[in-house]
Amino acid sequence: MSGSVQSFTLVTVPGGTRMLGHLRAFKTSPLETMAGWWREHGDALRFRLGPKVIHLLSHPDLAEVVLIHQADRFVKVYDPRRPSGLSLVLGNGLVTSSGEIWKRHRRIIQPIFHRSRMAAMADRMVEVGEQRLADWATHAGQPVDIAAEMMQLALEVISQTMFTTSMAHHIDRISQSLRVSLRYAFDSFHNPLRLPLWVPTAHNREFRAAMHFLDGLIYELLAERRRSGARHNDLLDLLLQARDEETGTGLSDQELRDEALTIFAAGHETTANALAWTWYLLATHPEAKARFHEEVDRVLQGRPPNAGDLAHLPYTRAVFDEALRLYPPAVAIQRKTTIPVAIGDIALPAGAIVLVSVYNLHRHPDCWPEAERFLPERWLGGERPEVRYAYLPFGAGPRACVGTQFATVEGPLLLALIGRRYDLHLAQERVEPELMVTLRPKGGIRMTLHPRHDVPAGSPG
Ligand code: HEM
Repeated sequence: MSGSVQSFTLVTVPGGTRMLGHLRAFKTSPLETMAGWWREHGDALRFRLGPKVIHLLSHPDLAEVVLIHQADRFVKVYDPRRPSGLSLVLGNGLVTSSGEIWKRHRRIIQPIFHRSRMAAMADRMVEVGEQRLADWATHAGQPVDIAAEMMQLALEVISQTMFTTSMAHHIDRISQSLRVSLRYAFDSFHNPLRLPLWVPTAHNREFRAAMHFLDGLIYELLAERRRSGARHNDLLDLLLQARDEETGTGLSDQELRDEALTIFAAGHETTANALAWTWYLLATHPEAKARFHEEVDRVLQGRPPNAGDLAHLPYTRAVFDEALRLYPPAVAIQRKTTIPVAIGDIALPAGAIVLVSVYNLHRHPDCWPEAERFLPERWLGGERPEVRYAYLPFGAGPRACVGTQFATVEGPLLLALIGRRYDLHLAQERVEPELMVTLRPKGGIRMTLHPRHDVPAGSPG
């Protein structure tokens, strides 16, 4: 562990009210508020949201302690007996579970992301991408919401790769249901006055309807696979075939539902937002965009990309990595202490809530030269950051993202696939980030699609 941990002191953010603490400022704009406090008061802060005390850590040494060195003392915050936050939606799946259940389920799910499966998955990603681009031909020259487009694309990629099925017909309803349910889950984080789910408020009713739809979709998927007996060697097969080593029993329907919905939600929302931000950054940095298009044209020579091309698209990958730095879809990693813990001079009681701010780490001036600038070049030619835990888009330690490799294939591959055919121009003045579990562009991003070269849009190659 780094010795410099000793030098941190925990600063209490000034202001706030006796009853609500800093709830009002946080609720209005959580991202900017936390970034502002960090810039003004430092890397280790304490603030209060109603009765809840939060510890905001924004230094790589502190991230390393929480996520790696003392990972067994900093656990996930969810309690399956009292669902709150994300577990209201995802139940006790891989993102929200802990202990033995998490360990066992991670062992079951991890193999689907094995390196050996990636080339086939990449082919499927490209197929899905080409199909969606065929629809784009009718929009050429017109503004579209690129954030919504990326959401639909990533949703179809996850459906096809993990569940060997198409969700194309339900896409609008799924996106809407996920938006409603994730917003509800996020609000529950900072709303101490939320009424229990059984009270028929408009919000509760809306949430329950969204969950009813998503549950129905997942249960139908499971039933259909059981009915058909088909084998696709996909995630659904792995989940349905899993057996406990000691008892020989399979996963219960509730466990199957929770894991399937977890991969479904965690596997597209994040990547889609990362891609939307990437297009925004490229559109606002013409030199970077020109270099990206040049690389894609040179490497692909007019054909669609495949997994083998990725090694020859370092700039495209750098663009994606840099977008993940400036707009990390998971802006903070939340943990709770199991026992009293000391990190250098910082003393945390048992049950203390900790947020490791990925967003702040990614813009830390001690770790990143010109931290606020979009500079894909910083990722090329050995210029990777010296400070290891200053870059955590996928987390770190035992609970790091299981889909890291999948996402780092999917992101650059879809960028190359789209960039080969289209030049995307920003069609609105301002784009603002909005935190809603993931970091989204508020209200979407309107962009116009300009076909490039003479590649007929929608043709296979
Ligand atoms: C750019 C895309 C992505 C980003 C930025 C991202 C980010 C993250 C982060 C930061 C965590 C750790 C959370 C924590 O420690 O509390 C995480 C966990 C997870 N992610 Fe991702 N993710 C991405 C893509 C994916 C994909 C494509 C999948 C699945 C296909 C996925 C599935 C998961 C799951 C299941 C976990 C929980 C892992 C565990 O606790 O064992 N993610 N992700």
